[in-house]
Amino acid sequence: MQFDASFFDAGIPRAGTDCEKWDDRQVLPEGAVPLWVADMDFACAPDIGEALTRRAGHACYGYTMVTPADDAAVTDFLRRRHGLSVSAGDTRLLPCVVTGLKLFVRCFTAPGEQVALLTPVYGPFSAAVTLNGRQEVRVPLQRGRDNRYTIDFDLLETAFKSGVKALLVCSPHNPVGRAWDEDELRRVLALCRAYGVALCVDEIHAEFVFSPRRFVPILSLVTPEDRVVSLMSASKTFNVAGLQQAYALGYNHEMLDALGREMAASGVVSGNVFALAGTRAAWTAGEMWLDGLMAYLADNLRLLERLLREDLPFVRMSPVEATYLAWLDLSSYEGSCARLQEKCLRAGVALTEGTFFGPEGEGFMRLNFGCPRAQLEEGVKRLKRAVQS
Ligand SMILES: Cc1ncc(COP(=O)(O)O)c(C=O)c1O
Repeated sequence: MQFDASFFDAGIPRAGTDCEKWDDRQVLPEGAVPLWVADMDFACAPDIGEALTRRAGHACYGYTMVTPADDAAVTDFLRRRHGLSVSAGDTRLLPCVVTGLKLFVRCFTAPGEQVALLTPVYGPFSAAVTLNGRQEVRVPLQRGRDNRYTIDFDLLETAFKSGVKALLVCSPHNPVGRAWDEDELRRVLALCRAYGVALCVDEIHAEFVFSPRRFVPILSLVTPEDRVVSLMSASKTFNVAGLQQAYALGYNHEMLDALGREMAASGVVSGNVFALAGTRAAWTAGEMWLDGLMAYLADNLRLLERLLREDLPFVRMSPVEATYLAWLDLSSYEGSCARLQEKCLRAGVALTEGTFFGPEGEGFMRLNFGCPRAQLEEGVKRLKRAVQS
């Protein structure tokens, strides 16, 4: 099968499948174009569906085992794609990445202690801290004249000096689209080492880095003494978020064991029979699909840039180095996210409100371009109508 533009142009009808992005009637009016929830409107690699159908065809769904083949599927993938050397002992299975963020906070900080975030950032980062009774320290990313965000290392160090115990980093970063480079990650690591801060890096968007940038895995920079855990999943990469499976990865086995104990204590159990079958197929047989997808997304991004330039010249989009999510400053049109979303929904398009990523996101909206081109064009047309209303 060819994973060319015609495969991705075809998309896949999702309305009526109980999917959050198309069927959540509390947000999305009937007929609206959804450019919000971060999954993609494409069919998965066929091997994934075939593996699931095969497993479903054996009509007994009793307790299953996580086998060496499951671990090898992810570690071999990381070796092939990123030259990263991880073995089965460096992995722990999780139900999802957000579970990993929450377990990390619970394991490596005490109630009332400070956890730092580089903001704006994917909403559940903040929830992982506050729901667990820890104190959130928001370290704002700095936006340059070119709308590109960078880390203010002086601000980060000031936060660390105030007693921060853990830092949660999103790499690549949702929503600002940065693929942190090696120098930036090394500086973050150096500060964590200097101040004894435990570091958790959510690398769920690892595969969505656009050339000429490249993804730098945090584990390629650390030693087993470093207090660092990476979180990864096939969920974004292969569009299988509904299967709910992820990994904590690291060379510091004391940290992995601590996460394991916390999971055991809180009854967090992984090993869903379908999640295992689907993700094993994804990691082992999904790469041609993934390469086709990346070429398609790169073209979508160019299209989006052109449409915004031509139709919405006052939108300021941050350069998208990674992810299929564009961070748009719409404040020249309307300063309030709530009002922006109201106008968008009235015009028949849904984006994600910038404030989902924290107060720094007021006046911004996040647009998901992981969809067929025709859907993207229609969505932007409606966005134009919305902001001009
Ligand atoms: C940075 C980031 N982390 C985690 C998640 C959610 O991952 P999971 O469904 O595995 O919890 C998302 C989803 O959008 C995300 O963007």
